[in-house]
Amino acid sequence: MTDRFTQRLNQAMDLRNIRQSDFVKAAEEHGVKLGRSHVSQYVNGKTRPRPEIERFLAAVLGVDARWLAGEQVAFDEHPATFNDVEQTTNVEHRHVIEQHADGNVQEDIEQHNIVELMDFEHRDSIEHEDVEHEYGIEPKDVAAHDVQPSSLNISEPTHASAPHRSGQEHIMEPQFDDDVQDPSFIDVPSSVTPEEPKVRGRRTFAKSHKLDNVLYDVRGPVVNEAARMEAAGMHVMKLNIGNPAPFGFRTPDEVVYDMAQQLTDTEGYSASKGLFSARKAIMQYAQLKNLPNVGVEDIYTGNGVSELINLSMSALLDNGDEVLLPAPDYPLWTACVTLAGGKPVHYICDEQSEWYPDIDDMRAKITDRTKSIVIINPNNPTGALYPREVLEQIVDLAREHQLMIFSDEIYDRLVMDGLEHTSIASLAPDLFCVTYSGLSKSHMIAGYRIGWMILSGNKAIAKDYIEGLDMLTNMRICSNVPAQSIVQTALGGHQSVNDYLVPGGRIYEQREYIYDALNSIDGITAVKPKAAFYIFPRIDVRRFNIHDDEQFALDLLHDEKLLIVQGTGFNWKDPDHFRVVYLPRVEVLKGAVDKMTRFFSHYRQ
Ligand SMILES: Cc1ncc(COP(=O)(O)O)c(C=O)c1O
Repeated sequence: MTDRFTQRLNQAMDLRNIRQSDFVKAAEEHGVKLGRSHVSQYVNGKTRPRPEIERFLAAVLGVDARWLAGEQVAFDEHPATFNDVEQTTNVEHRHVIEQHADGNVQEDIEQHNIVELMDFEHRDSIEHEDVEHEYGIEPKDVAAHDVQPSSLNISEPTHASAPHRSGQEHIMEPQFDDDVQDPSFIDVPSSVTPEEPKVRGRRTFAKSHKLDNVLYDVRGPVVNEAARMEAAGMHVMKLNIGNPAPFGFRTPDEVVYDMAQQLTDTEGYSASKGLFSARKAIMQYAQLKNLPNVGVEDIYTGNGVSELINLSMSALLDNGDEVLLPAPDYPLWTACVTLAGGKPVHYICDEQSEWYPDIDDMRAKITDRTKSIVIINPNNPTGALYPREVLEQIVDLAREHQLMIFSDEIYDRLVMDGLEHTSIASLAPDLFCVTYSGLSKSHMIAGYRIGWMILSGNKAIAKDYIEGLDMLTNMRICSNVPAQSIVQTALGGHQSVNDYLVPGGRIYEQREYIYDALNSIDGITAVKPKAAFYIFPRIDVRRFNIHDDEQFALDLLHDEKLLIVQGTGFNWKDPDHFRVVYLPRVEVLKGAVDKMTRFFSHYRQ
């Protein structure tokens, strides 16, 4: 750890006996936007907060904010208070109000703020301190009454998350069915590889502030830690990513064969929305799902649904526009709204009602700035499938408040128990809807990268927005053409995925097993999923004294070498859930449940 801020943050946390979760709690109490993952990144030196957040951290720690920032003052010379933080925030708030009142003033003030941030960033990015360490020179700039190594253990801050396993341990680890292990950790994230030595005065580059509040914990710090463990030779059992192929779900032969046949015909760019044959097949699929008013031109292919979520939020949102999103959600949605400058507003999905959206909560959260409602149906991470009545209520709400509807239906063909999926767009011919789906899950080709979005209903009201979509679609030129070439094959004829979803089929039997097994662990309860391949169990947090679920996920990883994703990674507010991907075979799931049972039998946070 080389950064002075990080070093001092860790020192002060040790001194004041403050844990990461204490910052999050304090932030909630003071209305400051600060998530667990942010704090974890600051503590681990992956990123540095903005000045106002630094002041807030200093106030929680009761240390001088300048000291925390790395300046040569005593750590307790002028301890920051929450008043300082609030005053700063108020000043910034006044700026915002003025910005709204007067367009010209807005520009001036915004620019002023940006300059301030840039100055700070610049100061931050010249790393003098490391040079001194590099050349074996003692830091001379520590003030006489600065915090000393002896009192605060300046040399090597310790972290709960740091791997500290002996080389022998992994040799002792029981192995589970090798063919179902997800190989996706072969790439150790660059953020966990050793840093290059730094040279005096070298300019470094920080990430954009647009990413400040963007989180994607499905591949976040816990996953990085798992990658580090694997790189150290340990065997980690991964129930964290909905990637069917590594769990033995093979792409239908016909799909692979047809792509191979067409490979030489798909070397060039296609039309930006995609090949006609692919879009025609998707259009016909839309007809079967009763989507109203859909022509070939209303279909856009993408490099997975992921690209299209990003693209459609970027085309829609001005700064501060609000989008209603489910909690829990598939976090890419929240991330893309934030990245586009929008404000994600989460409505609750109610565990007591099969995880259906709470319509009253949705209604209560609509404001003048709300532009659209997002639903994920079937849902990741809960596995819920929304019945027609629930969808109708959402449509009524959207109609009443003139909102657009975005419906992520990537799991629409993975439905069990004889239930049928209804596309919300089929109930809303008078509204403007965008429906997303693709082949990643239903055809087990997540790696080929092919998804699509379908515009339907009242397109006249979205003419300008559609121009924006077209512009961004043109700018990325086109989606993966070989993958487009098999859409027609995939969507027509026998759907082999259906065999997995009925009694005796893998997904069905794995769902039955995991649902019963999780519910038989003391302190764990779960609603039975109806679709997809995720389950989102509840943890009795009192029993286990859990107040930080990222820490829980790390502890489970370290103790049992089992990787799950904590519930807050899905924008679920409380630390009382986690997501399990039940794609592995039952024998492997049994091993995972044994690990969980053992862990929960003794775990107290
Ligand atoms: C709800 C949801 N939407 C979109 C995606 C991304 O899908 P794609 O592979 O098409 O980018 C996922 C992937 O897990 C998902 O769960």
